[in-house]
Amino acid sequence: MGSISGSTARTRRPADRRSTALVKGLLLLAATVVLTTPLLAADKVVLSADLSKPGAKIDKNLFGQFAEHLGLGVYEGVWVGADSPIPNTRGIRKDVVAALKALKVPNVRWPGGCFADEYHWRKGIGRERPVTLNPNWGGVTESNAFGTHEFMDFVDQIGSEAYLSVNVGSGTPQEAADWLEYLTAAQSTTLAKERAANGRPSPYKIAYLGIGNENWDCGGNMTPEYYLSQLKSYARFVRNFNPAQQQDPHKMLKIAVGPGGGGPRWTEWTETIMKAWQGRSWSWDMDGLSLHNYTVVKWPAAYKSTGFGEAEYAQILKSTLEMEGLVTTHSAIMDKYDPQKKIALVVDEWGAWYAPLPGSNPGFLSQQNSQRDAILAALNINIFARHGDRVRMANIAQMVNVLQAMILTDKEKMVLTPTYHLFKMYVPFQDATLVPLSLDAGKYTHGDIALPRLDALAAKDAAGKVWLAMTNLDPNQPLEIEASLAGVTAKAAAGETLTAPRVDSVNTFETPNAVAPKPVVAKVQAGKVLLTLAPKSVTVISVEQ
Ligand code: AHR
Repeated sequence: MGSISGSTARTRRPADRRSTALVKGLLLLAATVVLTTPLLAADKVVLSADLSKPGAKIDKNLFGQFAEHLGLGVYEGVWVGADSPIPNTRGIRKDVVAALKALKVPNVRWPGGCFADEYHWRKGIGRERPVTLNPNWGGVTESNAFGTHEFMDFVDQIGSEAYLSVNVGSGTPQEAADWLEYLTAAQSTTLAKERAANGRPSPYKIAYLGIGNENWDCGGNMTPEYYLSQLKSYARFVRNFNPAQQQDPHKMLKIAVGPGGGGPRWTEWTETIMKAWQGRSWSWDMDGLSLHNYTVVKWPAAYKSTGFGEAEYAQILKSTLEMEGLVTTHSAIMDKYDPQKKIALVVDEWGAWYAPLPGSNPGFLSQQNSQRDAILAALNINIFARHGDRVRMANIAQMVNVLQAMILTDKEKMVLTPTYHLFKMYVPFQDATLVPLSLDAGKYTHGDIALPRLDALAAKDAAGKVWLAMTNLDPNQPLEIEASLAGVTAKAAAGETLTAPRVDSVNTFETPNAVAPKPVVAKVQAGKVLLTLAPKSVTVISVEQ
């Protein structure tokens, strides 16, 4: 990825990022969802699940968010300043906090992204903050008004955990170590006293530490070997001193930069890091390896985020299903060096990347968010959940106003996107246990694109309630479902469905509820759950026993 200078948006990605992914994706998807001959409109899909054979946990961290200093993602999207007429708590907008609280956001990755490898934390603390530049994203000024304390206040206000990305590209292990001491030391060190003087006497909790970001590209164009030596150094010296975080399960987890695709360049990256980890000494360790993958079809991102038709809908969904192949490819390499699956695969940047909205600064990565994006999000989360033994964390890019956002703002106005509604509908899956499903998905075809007509996820939550999420990819035909759940005596089933008049339907400030979930009630007959899925819809129901 070429980093962005001035107002020029990112223009290219290495070609091999997607090379083998599609083929692998479809093959591997077929292992879970069997593709057969096309179904007729009136055909029924039978889903069966056996509750006595649970799968892996669907880690709540799969529903993580990402907030980079990029465009209107942080400034305006989250931070308006205490003097703003927009209602705020200590400068953080109240409407956005309330909306995010409802998503039960498990963690927020900050401050980047490419921004992280140019961020120097000392500029974002204290009363006097320098105004700097954000050369990656539009070349605009960075006030540094939103810094360490403001971010920690924000995650606290939404009830989430901090996932900090430290600067490897243009920083030093010492700078990052000082930041962590500033944040977490309980003893009265000079840095801890400075933190107290800035309003926070007690140590902060830092749950996750990202060691760099895309250091194979915008983070310094490093070879895997060069990055590996940086990783060892940061993993050794950047310590968390919070007394409450010295023992499992409270320890800070360290996440190394991982691959950005599926071709040889990326498999070599994963091999290099994982092989070194297997042969590690006592003096360094890590807990996760990141994977970045955007749904873009090809660089530069040219697909429109609104005002598109079925051809673009089908093409984008085909492209997003490549995630299956990427996750499988890198999980297989990780299995070689870590058969016990100690290291999580952390997909900490994913989502749709479309052409910038006409008239917007191309460096701001502003795009609309349609019903297609809600479906795309469901497909990706389902993939992560089915790989839950290895994929234990993911962060959609990005939370507010940037790329596939949950929320769009325009000064004092705010609108929730279809992707927001999808994340809300999936809240019951956080930390639930996967129940493997067998189904004959059928096919939805458009031109030469063939996709599974149905994708589905089943899980059991901590209270024993069974949840089913079903996505009808076909934008034209409804789909009848008959679900048999062995081990459950189904008595009633109800939930919500998210569909829209068109695949490119969006919510705007003028029509904020054009795409919104509606209640749905399923029939239960002889213990089977029966319902009809609307075209281009995602439905989540719970089953009463
Ligand atoms: O999310 C936008 C950018 O995409 C991030 O800054 C970078 O990590 C990735 O290439």
